[in-house]
Amino acid sequence: MSPHHVSSIHVAKDMANMSDLEKKHVPMIHVGGTPKTGEAFEVTVWVGEQMAHPNEAEHHIEFIDLYLDDMFIARCDLTWGYTDPKACFTVRLDHSGTLRAYERCNIHGDWAYSMEVTI
Ligand SMILES: [Fe+2]
Repeated sequence: MSPHHVSSIHVAKDMANMSDLEKKHVPMIHVGGTPKTGEAFEVTVWVGEQMAHPNEAEHHIEFIDLYLDDMFIARCDLTWGYTDPKACFTVRLDHSGTLRAYERCNIHGDWAYSMEVTI
């Protein structure tokens, strides 16, 4: 199962050769340090890391979500103009899994990226 409608989620077709649209929308995940069971670590999700996404009323990122496998962990709601679409979550996990980041652009829809995290 997916947190959003599977058919409506965009992903980069080739991470090594992303289009400009993909560079602006794929929510890149960065894990700080080496996660250990039950210990806090930082997960940063950055939309537009390689190419800045517009940040204006007409076109902006509305929120960033983080999941572990299919379990919701956190959401960061964003206000255009005042916040860059980059969120840092402090996370504690008790098992390994797939971190999944989602973001919603008010024009270009939902985008996802995922990475394995080993505890
Ligand atoms: Fe967009």
